[in-house]
Amino acid sequence: MIGPSGQVKGFLRPETAQGIFVNFKRLLEFNQRRLPFAAAQVGNAFRNEISPRSGLIRVREFTLAEIEHFVDPFNKSHPKYETIADLELNLYTACNQMDGKASEMVRIRDAVDRKIIANETLAYFIGRIYLFMIKLGVDHKRLRFRQHMDNEMAHYATDCWDAECLTSYGWVECVGCADRSCFDLLQHTKATNVKLVAEKDLPVPKVVNVVEIVPNKGLMGKHFKSNAQKVMTRLNVLSEMEIKSIEEALNEQNEFVIDLDKENKVTITKEMVTIKRYEKKVHVEEFTPGVIEPSFGIGRIMHTLFEHNFRIREDDEQRTYFALPAIVCPIKCSLLPLSNHATLRSFVTQLSTQLSAADISFKFDDAGSIGKRYARTDEISIPFAITIDFDSLKDEMVTLRERDSTEQIRIPMKDVVNTVKELSTNCRQWDDVRNQYGIFDPSQSSSEPPPQ
Ligand code: GLY
Repeated sequence: MIGPSGQVKGFLRPETAQGIFVNFKRLLEFNQRRLPFAAAQVGNAFRNEISPRSGLIRVREFTLAEIEHFVDPFNKSHPKYETIADLELNLYTACNQMDGKASEMVRIRDAVDRKIIANETLAYFIGRIYLFMIKLGVDHKRLRFRQHMDNEMAHYATDCWDAECLTSYGWVECVGCADRSCFDLLQHTKATNVKLVAEKDLPVPKVVNVVEIVPNKGLMGKHFKSNAQKVMTRLNVLSEMEIKSIEEALNEQNEFVIDLDKENKVTITKEMVTIKRYEKKVHVEEFTPGVIEPSFGIGRIMHTLFEHNFRIREDDEQRTYFALPAIVCPIKCSLLPLSNHATLRSFVTQLSTQLSAADISFKFDDAGSIGKRYARTDEISIPFAITIDFDSLKDEMVTLRERDSTEQIRIPMKDVVNTVKELSTNCRQWDDVRNQYGIFDPSQSSSEPPPQ
Protein backbone atom coordinates (compact mmCIF):
# COMPACT_ATOMS: atom_id res chain seq x y z
CA MET A 1 0.00 0.00 0.00
CA ILE A 2 1.31 3.44 -0.79
CA GLY A 3 0.26 7.00 0.05
CA PRO A 4 -1.22 8.38 3.26
CA SER A 5 -4.58 6.64 2.83
CA GLY A 6 -3.00 3.26 2.22
CA GLN A 7 -5.65 2.77 -0.46
CA VAL A 8 -3.33 2.87 -3.45
CA LYS A 9 -1.64 -0.34 -4.48
CA GLY A 10 2.00 -0.23 -5.48
CA PHE A 11 3.85 -2.95 -7.35
CA LEU A 12 7.58 -3.55 -6.96
CA ARG A 13 9.43 -5.95 -9.23
CA PRO A 14 11.11 -8.91 -7.56
CA GLU A 15 13.57 -9.25 -10.46
CA THR A 16 14.68 -7.15 -13.42
CA ALA A 17 14.26 -10.11 -15.78
CA GLN A 18 10.64 -9.53 -16.78
CA GLY A 19 11.48 -6.16 -18.34
CA ILE A 20 13.67 -8.07 -20.77
CA PHE A 21 11.06 -10.75 -21.51
CA VAL A 22 8.33 -8.23 -22.35
CA ASN A 23 10.77 -6.57 -24.75
CA PHE A 24 11.68 -9.87 -26.38
CA LYS A 25 10.24 -9.08 -29.83
CA ARG A 26 12.10 -5.79 -30.07
CA LEU A 27 15.35 -7.32 -28.82
CA LEU A 28 15.04 -10.12 -31.37
CA GLU A 29 14.66 -7.50 -34.13
CA PHE A 30 17.77 -5.67 -32.85
CA ASN A 31 19.63 -8.93 -33.25
CA GLN A 32 18.51 -9.41 -36.87
CA ARG A 33 16.13 -12.13 -35.62
CA ARG A 34 19.06 -14.43 -34.94
CA LEU A 35 19.64 -16.56 -31.88
CA PRO A 36 21.45 -16.85 -29.56
CA PHE A 37 21.49 -13.31 -28.20
CA ALA A 38 21.46 -11.83 -24.75
CA ALA A 39 20.19 -8.73 -23.02
CA ALA A 40 21.32 -7.40 -19.66
CA GLN A 41 19.79 -5.07 -17.13
CA VAL A 42 20.88 -3.58 -13.81
CA GLY A 43 18.41 -2.06 -11.40
CA ASN A 44 16.62 -2.21 -8.10
CA ALA A 45 14.59 -5.27 -7.15
CA PHE A 46 12.41 -5.86 -4.13
CA ARG A 47 11.53 -8.84 -1.94
CA ASN A 48 9.06 -8.99 0.88
CA GLU A 49 11.59 -10.45 3.31
CA ILE A 50 9.77 -11.41 6.48
CA SER A 51 12.78 -10.85 8.72
CA PRO A 52 15.37 -8.63 7.03
CA ARG A 53 17.81 -9.31 9.85
CA SER A 54 21.17 -10.24 8.40
CA GLY A 55 22.50 -6.71 8.00
CA LEU A 56 23.42 -6.05 4.40
CA ILE A 57 22.67 -9.59 3.22
CA ARG A 58 18.90 -10.01 3.58
CA VAL A 59 17.38 -6.75 2.46
CA ARG A 60 14.02 -5.78 0.98
CA GLU A 61 15.48 -3.54 -1.70
CA PHE A 62 18.67 -4.42 -3.54
CA THR A 63 20.57 -3.99 -6.79
CA LEU A 64 20.19 -6.87 -9.18
CA ALA A 65 22.11 -7.31 -12.44
CA GLU A 66 20.67 -9.90 -14.80
CA ILE A 67 21.50 -11.35 -18.18
CA GLU A 68 18.86 -13.18 -20.20
CA HIS A 69 20.56 -15.30 -22.85
CA PHE A 70 18.03 -16.56 -25.42
CA VAL A 71 18.88 -19.83 -27.08
CA ASP A 72 17.44 -22.52 -29.35
CA PRO A 73 15.96 -25.01 -26.82
CA PHE A 74 17.04 -27.92 -29.02
CA ASN A 75 20.62 -26.69 -29.28
CA LYS A 76 22.06 -25.41 -26.02
CA SER A 77 25.66 -25.70 -27.14
CA HIS A 78 27.73 -22.53 -26.72
CA PRO A 79 30.35 -21.32 -29.23
CA LYS A 80 32.74 -20.25 -26.45
CA TYR A 81 32.24 -23.35 -24.30
CA GLU A 82 35.83 -24.49 -24.89
CA THR A 83 37.15 -21.32 -23.25
CA ILE A 84 35.79 -22.40 -19.86
CA ALA A 85 35.39 -26.20 -20.20
CA ASP A 86 38.63 -27.04 -18.40
CA LEU A 87 38.04 -24.86 -15.35
CA GLU A 88 37.82 -26.85 -12.15
CA LEU A 89 35.06 -25.61 -9.87
CA ASN A 90 33.89 -26.45 -6.39
CA LEU A 91 30.49 -27.99 -7.16
CA TYR A 92 27.95 -28.90 -4.51
CA THR A 93 25.55 -31.02 -6.50
CA ALA A 94 21.94 -31.76 -5.53
CA CYS A 95 22.96 -35.44 -5.19
CA ASN A 96 25.78 -34.68 -2.75
CA GLN A 97 23.45 -32.49 -0.71
CA MET A 98 20.83 -35.27 -0.57
CA ASP A 99 23.47 -37.85 0.40
CA GLY A 100 25.00 -35.60 3.07
CA LYS A 101 28.29 -35.47 1.16
CA ALA A 102 30.60 -32.47 0.79
CA SER A 103 31.12 -30.38 -2.32
CA GLU A 104 33.91 -31.49 -4.70
CA MET A 105 36.22 -30.06 -7.31
CA VAL A 106 34.91 -31.02 -10.75
CA ARG A 107 36.02 -29.96 -14.23
CA ILE A 108 33.18 -28.20 -16.04
CA ARG A 109 33.60 -30.52 -19.04
CA ASP A 110 33.15 -33.58 -16.81
CA ALA A 111 30.10 -32.04 -15.13
CA VAL A 112 28.43 -31.49 -18.52
CA ASP A 113 29.43 -34.92 -19.87
CA ARG A 114 28.05 -36.57 -16.75
CA LYS A 115 24.85 -34.46 -17.06
CA ILE A 116 25.48 -32.88 -13.65
CA ILE A 117 25.16 -29.47 -15.32
CA ALA A 118 22.21 -29.59 -17.71
CA ASN A 119 23.81 -28.11 -20.84
CA GLU A 120 26.80 -26.26 -22.33
CA THR A 121 25.28 -22.80 -22.23
CA LEU A 122 24.39 -23.07 -18.55
CA ALA A 123 27.91 -24.41 -17.91
CA TYR A 124 29.45 -21.58 -19.95
CA PHE A 125 27.79 -18.97 -17.75
CA ILE A 126 28.74 -20.84 -14.57
CA GLY A 127 32.36 -20.72 -15.80
CA ARG A 128 32.12 -17.02 -16.64
CA ILE A 129 30.57 -16.26 -13.25
CA TYR A 130 33.53 -18.04 -11.61
CA LEU A 131 36.06 -16.02 -13.63
CA PHE A 132 34.18 -12.80 -12.92
CA MET A 133 34.06 -13.41 -9.16
CA ILE A 134 37.77 -14.26 -9.02
CA LYS A 135 38.65 -11.20 -11.07
CA LEU A 136 36.71 -9.02 -8.62
CA GLY A 137 38.63 -10.43 -5.67
CA VAL A 138 36.43 -13.21 -4.27
CA ASP A 139 38.60 -15.85 -2.58
CA HIS A 140 38.36 -19.01 -4.71
CA LYS A 141 38.58 -21.16 -1.56
CA ARG A 142 35.43 -19.49 -0.26
CA LEU A 143 33.42 -19.82 -3.47
CA ARG A 144 31.26 -22.79 -4.44
CA PHE A 145 28.47 -23.53 -6.88
CA ARG A 146 25.48 -25.15 -5.22
CA GLN A 147 22.86 -26.84 -7.34
CA HIS A 148 19.23 -26.28 -6.36
CA MET A 149 17.45 -29.39 -5.21
CA ASP A 150 14.15 -30.27 -6.88
CA ASN A 151 12.15 -29.07 -3.89
CA GLU A 152 13.74 -25.59 -3.86
CA MET A 153 13.97 -24.93 -7.60
CA ALA A 154 11.98 -21.85 -8.64
CA HIS A 155 8.83 -22.66 -10.59
CA TYR A 156 10.46 -21.35 -13.78
CA ALA A 157 13.74 -23.27 -13.64
CA THR A 158 14.82 -26.66 -14.97
CA ASP A 159 18.35 -26.50 -13.53
CA CYS A 160 19.75 -23.83 -11.25
CA TRP A 161 23.13 -23.22 -9.60
CA ASP A 162 23.97 -20.56 -7.04
CA ALA A 163 27.45 -19.09 -6.73
CA GLU A 164 27.75 -19.05 -2.96
CA CYS A 165 30.45 -17.21 -0.99
CA LEU A 166 31.54 -18.10 2.51
CA THR A 167 31.21 -15.03 4.72
CA SER A 168 30.66 -14.33 8.42
CA TYR A 169 26.96 -15.04 7.69
CA GLY A 170 27.84 -18.52 6.41
CA TRP A 171 27.48 -19.51 2.75
CA VAL A 172 25.62 -16.68 1.02
CA GLU A 173 23.98 -16.88 -2.40
CA CYS A 174 25.56 -14.09 -4.45
CA VAL A 175 24.76 -15.11 -8.04
CA GLY A 176 22.06 -17.40 -9.38
CA CYS A 177 22.43 -19.14 -12.73
CA ALA A 178 19.25 -20.77 -13.98
CA ASP A 179 18.01 -22.50 -17.08
CA ARG A 180 14.52 -20.94 -17.18
CA SER A 181 13.60 -22.97 -20.30
CA CYS A 182 10.72 -21.38 -22.29
CA PHE A 183 8.69 -20.66 -19.18
CA ASP A 184 8.66 -16.86 -19.13
CA LEU A 185 8.02 -16.23 -22.82
CA LEU A 186 5.16 -18.76 -22.77
CA GLN A 187 3.63 -17.16 -19.68
CA HIS A 188 3.71 -13.71 -21.27
CA THR A 189 2.09 -15.11 -24.40
CA LYS A 190 -0.60 -16.71 -22.29
CA ALA A 191 -1.30 -13.45 -20.49
CA THR A 192 -1.17 -11.11 -23.49
CA ASN A 193 -1.94 -13.32 -26.49
CA VAL A 194 1.19 -12.01 -28.17
CA LYS A 195 3.39 -14.69 -29.70
CA LEU A 196 6.99 -14.48 -28.45
CA VAL A 197 8.80 -16.78 -30.82
CA ALA A 198 11.88 -16.91 -33.03
CA GLU A 199 12.27 -18.58 -36.42
CA LYS A 200 15.04 -20.72 -37.76
CA ASP A 201 15.78 -21.61 -41.38
CA LEU A 202 15.39 -25.29 -42.12
CA PRO A 203 18.31 -26.89 -43.99
CA VAL A 204 15.73 -28.39 -46.39
CA PRO A 205 12.07 -27.34 -46.65
CA LYS A 206 9.67 -29.79 -45.06
CA VAL A 207 5.99 -30.63 -45.36
CA VAL A 208 4.12 -30.19 -42.10
CA ASN A 209 0.59 -31.01 -41.00
CA VAL A 210 -1.08 -27.81 -39.89
CA VAL A 211 -3.96 -27.75 -37.44
CA GLU A 212 -5.72 -24.41 -37.29
CA ILE A 213 -8.73 -23.09 -35.53
CA VAL A 214 -10.60 -20.72 -37.83
CA PRO A 215 -13.19 -18.44 -36.24
CA ASN A 216 -16.55 -17.70 -37.80
CA LYS A 217 -16.12 -13.94 -37.61
CA GLY A 218 -19.81 -13.08 -38.11
CA LEU A 219 -21.02 -15.34 -35.30
CA MET A 220 -18.18 -14.28 -33.02
CA GLY A 221 -19.02 -10.61 -33.56
CA LYS A 222 -22.69 -11.18 -32.85
CA HIS A 223 -22.04 -13.22 -29.73
CA PHE A 224 -19.02 -11.53 -28.15
CA LYS A 225 -19.58 -7.98 -29.49
CA SER A 226 -16.70 -5.70 -28.31
CA ASN A 227 -14.81 -8.73 -26.98
CA ALA A 228 -14.84 -10.57 -30.33
CA GLN A 229 -11.41 -9.36 -31.47
CA LYS A 230 -9.87 -10.38 -28.16
CA VAL A 231 -11.38 -13.86 -28.43
CA MET A 232 -10.08 -14.26 -32.00
CA THR A 233 -6.59 -13.06 -31.00
CA ARG A 234 -6.59 -15.63 -28.23
CA LEU A 235 -7.56 -18.41 -30.67
CA ASN A 236 -4.75 -17.30 -32.95
CA VAL A 237 -1.99 -18.09 -30.43
CA LEU A 238 -3.20 -21.54 -29.40
CA SER A 239 -0.63 -24.30 -29.69
CA GLU A 240 -1.24 -27.46 -31.69
CA MET A 241 -1.71 -29.39 -28.44
CA GLU A 242 -4.31 -26.93 -27.20
CA ILE A 243 -6.22 -27.09 -30.48
CA LYS A 244 -6.25 -30.88 -30.27
CA SER A 245 -7.77 -30.85 -26.80
CA ILE A 246 -10.31 -28.22 -27.94
CA GLU A 247 -11.24 -30.53 -30.80
CA GLU A 248 -11.88 -33.33 -28.32
CA ALA A 249 -14.04 -31.05 -26.18
CA LEU A 250 -16.03 -29.95 -29.22
CA ASN A 251 -16.65 -33.57 -30.23
CA GLU A 252 -17.81 -34.51 -26.75
CA GLN A 253 -19.66 -31.38 -25.55
CA ASN A 254 -20.12 -29.22 -28.66
CA GLU A 255 -18.39 -26.35 -26.88
CA PHE A 256 -15.22 -25.45 -24.98
CA VAL A 257 -14.15 -22.90 -22.41
CA ILE A 258 -11.05 -20.76 -22.82
CA ASP A 259 -9.27 -18.21 -20.57
CA LEU A 260 -9.37 -14.80 -22.17
CA ASP A 261 -7.21 -13.29 -19.46
CA LYS A 262 -6.63 -13.85 -15.75
CA GLU A 263 -10.21 -12.98 -14.77
CA ASN A 264 -12.33 -13.84 -17.80
CA LYS A 265 -13.27 -17.13 -19.40
CA VAL A 266 -15.50 -17.49 -22.46
CA THR A 267 -17.48 -20.42 -23.82
CA ILE A 268 -17.16 -21.05 -27.55
CA THR A 269 -19.63 -23.28 -29.37
CA LYS A 270 -19.06 -25.65 -32.31
CA GLU A 271 -20.75 -23.24 -34.78
CA MET A 272 -18.32 -20.44 -34.00
CA VAL A 273 -15.15 -22.24 -35.14
CA THR A 274 -13.88 -24.71 -37.71
CA ILE A 275 -10.85 -26.88 -37.11
CA LYS A 276 -8.86 -27.08 -40.31
CA ARG A 277 -6.14 -29.57 -41.15
CA TYR A 278 -3.89 -29.29 -44.17
CA GLU A 279 -0.35 -29.91 -45.35
CA LYS A 280 2.07 -27.05 -45.89
CA LYS A 281 5.63 -26.82 -47.19
CA VAL A 282 7.67 -24.70 -44.80
CA HIS A 283 11.16 -23.19 -45.09
CA VAL A 284 11.38 -21.91 -41.54
CA GLU A 285 10.36 -23.26 -38.20
CA GLU A 286 8.92 -21.23 -35.32
CA PHE A 287 9.96 -21.95 -31.77
CA THR A 288 9.86 -20.41 -28.33
CA PRO A 289 13.45 -19.75 -27.23
CA GLY A 290 14.88 -21.13 -24.02
CA VAL A 291 16.55 -18.74 -21.58
CA ILE A 292 19.69 -19.08 -19.49
CA GLU A 293 19.85 -16.45 -16.77
CA PRO A 294 22.84 -15.39 -14.67
CA SER A 295 21.52 -13.07 -11.94
CA PHE A 296 23.94 -11.09 -9.74
CA GLY A 297 23.12 -9.67 -6.30
CA ILE A 298 25.46 -6.69 -6.37
CA GLY A 299 25.24 -5.80 -2.65
CA ARG A 300 26.06 -9.35 -1.59
CA ILE A 301 29.04 -9.48 -3.94
CA MET A 302 30.29 -6.17 -2.53
CA HIS A 303 29.86 -7.45 1.01
CA THR A 304 31.86 -10.58 0.15
CA LEU A 305 34.62 -8.52 -1.45
CA PHE A 306 35.03 -6.47 1.71
CA GLU A 307 35.12 -9.58 3.92
CA HIS A 308 37.47 -11.53 1.66
CA ASN A 309 39.90 -8.64 1.18
CA PHE A 310 40.18 -7.12 4.65
CA ARG A 311 43.79 -7.40 5.91
CA ILE A 312 45.78 -6.41 8.98
CA ARG A 313 49.54 -5.70 8.66
CA GLU A 314 51.58 -8.30 10.51
CA ASP A 315 53.73 -5.78 12.35
CA ASP A 316 50.95 -3.38 13.35
CA GLU A 317 47.35 -4.37 13.99
CA GLN A 318 46.25 -0.73 13.76
CA ARG A 319 47.18 -0.74 10.09
CA THR A 320 44.44 -2.32 8.07
CA TYR A 321 43.82 -2.33 4.35
CA PHE A 322 41.61 -3.82 1.66
CA ALA A 323 43.57 -5.99 -0.78
CA LEU A 324 41.07 -5.46 -3.60
CA PRO A 325 42.31 -6.13 -7.14
CA ALA A 326 43.32 -2.84 -8.74
CA ILE A 327 40.69 -3.26 -11.45
CA VAL A 328 37.83 -2.77 -8.95
CA CYS A 329 39.45 -0.10 -6.76
CA PRO A 330 37.57 3.16 -7.19
CA ILE A 331 40.81 5.17 -6.79
CA LYS A 332 43.76 3.65 -8.63
CA CYS A 333 46.60 5.77 -7.41
CA SER A 334 47.69 8.32 -4.82
CA LEU A 335 50.01 11.20 -5.54
CA LEU A 336 52.22 12.02 -2.57
CA PRO A 337 54.90 14.70 -2.61
CA LEU A 338 57.35 13.81 0.15
CA SER A 339 57.18 17.40 1.33
CA ASN A 340 55.07 20.39 0.38
CA HIS A 341 58.22 22.32 -0.46
CA ALA A 342 57.67 24.66 -3.43
CA THR A 343 60.30 22.89 -5.58
CA LEU A 344 58.16 19.76 -5.87
CA ARG A 345 55.00 21.56 -6.96
CA SER A 346 55.66 21.60 -10.69
CA PHE A 347 56.10 17.79 -10.63
CA VAL A 348 52.80 17.41 -8.81
CA THR A 349 51.03 19.58 -11.38
CA GLN A 350 52.65 17.71 -14.26
CA LEU A 351 51.71 14.26 -12.90
CA SER A 352 48.16 15.34 -11.93
CA THR A 353 47.57 16.55 -15.48
CA GLN A 354 48.93 13.33 -16.97
CA LEU A 355 46.91 11.12 -14.61
CA SER A 356 43.68 13.00 -15.43
CA ALA A 357 44.41 12.83 -19.15
CA ALA A 358 44.94 9.06 -18.86
CA ASP A 359 41.61 8.78 -17.02
CA ILE A 360 43.24 7.35 -13.89
CA SER A 361 41.38 8.22 -10.70
CA PHE A 362 43.85 9.49 -8.10
CA LYS A 363 44.01 11.15 -4.72
CA PHE A 364 46.47 13.89 -3.86
CA ASP A 365 47.62 13.87 -0.24
CA ASP A 366 50.32 16.06 1.27
CA ALA A 367 49.21 16.08 4.91
CA GLY A 368 51.28 14.38 7.61
CA SER A 369 54.14 11.89 7.55
CA ILE A 370 54.57 9.67 4.50
CA GLY A 371 53.89 6.57 6.65
CA LYS A 372 50.54 7.99 7.77
CA ARG A 373 49.67 8.90 4.21
CA TYR A 374 50.43 5.38 2.97
CA ALA A 375 48.26 3.98 5.78
CA ARG A 376 45.39 6.30 4.79
CA THR A 377 45.54 5.24 1.16
CA ASP A 378 45.81 1.55 2.11
CA GLU A 379 42.66 1.83 4.24
CA ILE A 380 40.62 2.85 1.22
CA SER A 381 42.31 0.26 -0.97
CA ILE A 382 44.27 2.55 -3.30
CA PRO A 383 46.59 0.02 -4.96
CA PHE A 384 49.45 2.27 -6.11
CA ALA A 385 51.18 5.35 -4.75
CA ILE A 386 53.49 7.70 -6.62
CA THR A 387 55.87 9.54 -4.35
CA ILE A 388 57.88 12.55 -5.49
CA ASP A 389 60.99 13.29 -3.43
CA PHE A 390 63.92 15.66 -3.69
CA ASP A 391 65.92 13.22 -5.81
CA SER A 392 63.17 13.61 -8.42
CA LEU A 393 64.49 17.13 -8.98
CA LYS A 394 67.84 15.65 -10.05
CA ASP A 395 66.93 12.45 -11.87
CA GLU A 396 63.26 12.98 -12.88
CA MET A 397 62.43 9.64 -11.27
CA VAL A 398 59.65 8.91 -8.77
CA THR A 399 58.89 5.97 -6.52
CA LEU A 400 55.93 3.73 -7.17
CA ARG A 401 54.61 1.68 -4.24
CA GLU A 402 52.33 -1.35 -4.39
CA ARG A 403 49.77 -1.57 -1.56
CA ASP A 404 49.75 -5.28 -0.60
CA SER A 405 53.52 -5.94 -0.63
CA THR A 406 54.44 -2.31 0.23
CA GLU A 407 57.29 -2.83 -2.24
CA GLN A 408 58.62 0.19 -4.04
CA ILE A 409 60.40 0.71 -7.33
CA ARG A 410 62.02 3.79 -8.79
CA ILE A 411 60.76 4.62 -12.23
CA PRO A 412 61.24 7.49 -14.72
CA MET A 413 58.51 10.06 -14.26
CA LYS A 414 57.70 9.92 -17.97
CA ASP A 415 56.81 6.19 -17.66
CA VAL A 416 54.95 6.12 -14.37
CA VAL A 417 51.46 7.12 -15.56
CA ASN A 418 51.41 4.54 -18.30
CA THR A 419 52.67 1.87 -15.90
CA VAL A 420 49.90 2.67 -13.39
CA LYS A 421 47.38 2.49 -16.24
CA GLU A 422 48.65 -0.95 -17.28
CA LEU A 423 48.68 -2.19 -13.68
CA SER A 424 45.22 -0.94 -12.86
CA THR A 425 43.62 -2.39 -15.98
CA ASN A 426 45.14 -5.85 -15.47
CA CYS A 427 47.34 -5.49 -18.58
CA ARG A 428 50.44 -5.92 -16.45
CA GLN A 429 51.22 -7.48 -13.06
CA TRP A 430 53.28 -5.93 -10.26
CA ASP A 431 55.85 -8.79 -10.36
CA ASP A 432 56.65 -7.89 -13.93
CA VAL A 433 57.11 -4.19 -13.14
CA ARG A 434 59.23 -5.03 -10.07
CA ASN A 435 61.42 -7.31 -12.18
CA GLN A 436 61.94 -4.59 -14.74
CA TYR A 437 62.95 -1.83 -12.32
CA GLY A 438 64.15 -3.75 -9.23
CA ILE A 439 63.18 -3.12 -5.63
CA PHE A 440 63.96 0.32 -4.30
CA ASP A 441 64.84 1.01 -0.69
CA PRO A 442 62.99 4.23 0.23
CA SER A 443 65.46 5.06 3.02
CA GLN A 444 67.92 5.88 0.20
CA SER A 445 65.82 8.74 -1.14
CA SER A 446 66.53 12.28 -0.15
CA SER A 447 64.02 13.87 2.19
CA GLU A 448 65.94 17.16 2.33
CA PRO A 449 65.36 20.00 -0.14
CA PRO A 450 68.44 20.94 -2.17
CA PRO A 451 70.43 23.91 -0.84
CA GLN A 452 69.36 27.27 -2.33
N1 GLY B 1 15.90 -13.62 -11.57
C1 GLY B 1 16.26 -14.50 -10.57
C2 GLY B 1 15.97 -14.00 -9.23
O1 GLY B 1 15.44 -12.91 -9.16
O2 GLY B 1 16.24 -14.64 -8.25
